[in-house]
Amino acid sequence: AFPSSGAAAKFVAREIDKLVRSRNAAGKPTVLGLATGSTPVGLYRELIRLHKEDGLDLSRVITFNLDEYYPIPKEDPHSYFRWMHETLFNHVNIKWENIHIPDGTLRPDEVDAFCAEYEQKIKAAGGIDIQVLGIGRTGHIGFNEPGSPHNCRTRMVTLDSITRRDAAPGFFGEENVPAQAITMGVASIMDARRIFLMSFGEHKATITYKALEQPPTEAITASFLQDHTNATFLLDSAAAAELT
Ligand code: F6R
Repeated sequence: AFPSSGAAAKFVAREIDKLVRSRNAAGKPTVLGLATGSTPVGLYRELIRLHKEDGLDLSRVITFNLDEYYPIPKEDPHSYFRWMHETLFNHVNIKWENIHIPDGTLRPDEVDAFCAEYEQKIKAAGGIDIQVLGIGRTGHIGFNEPGSPHNCRTRMVTLDSITRRDAAPGFFGEENVPAQAITMGVASIMDARRIFLMSFGEHKATITYKALEQPPTEAITASFLQDHTNATFLLDSAAAAELT
């Protein structure tokens, strides 16, 4: 646990910074798995600062975002495509062709092939070096809601009503939140070599306790991370309040 979310964000940013610099020195790419939402904002702010003020070169970085609402136009103010560009990509030198985000504009009959290809692209890039995660109040990672098995991969899912309620203020009402999403699966996430899950705020305290201290279960997909050999939970003191 960290005294503040800012300190946790700086820690993760430093780990990414170290890896990217060492890969750059070897002329090799770094593959990052990225999340949206309120949790990683401080991390992205710090990465932008490292890029602008400290010479962090992200031109060899390849990114894969966890999820996107479905259906949603790219230019929609709520799309994760737009959010990622406004929050990170427009401010650093990651190449557009190295950015991957699930596509909320596909026709329904195109989704399965897109998801298989997304998995293939992660593999072709060499697999994810560092995966950044938040945790939803349902215990989801990505949009792997309760009931998602440990071996699921990138696919279309139906959002839990708690998740839609949590997203409702931004959409001016729950009825405007898309019912579905395309998300990387639990297995896609577990394949990452290193995982940082950040959980900040008292509203995350109960689910953080369950994910960390109760036996792994499909009912809380973040709990599967207990079985990952290199997964770190970074908490602020409010989110850590219910740990024993
Ligand atoms: C976002 C994602 C979600 C969020 C989670 C927490 O790409 O995959 O799992 O990380 O819903 O959201 P915030 O950070 O807004 O509390």
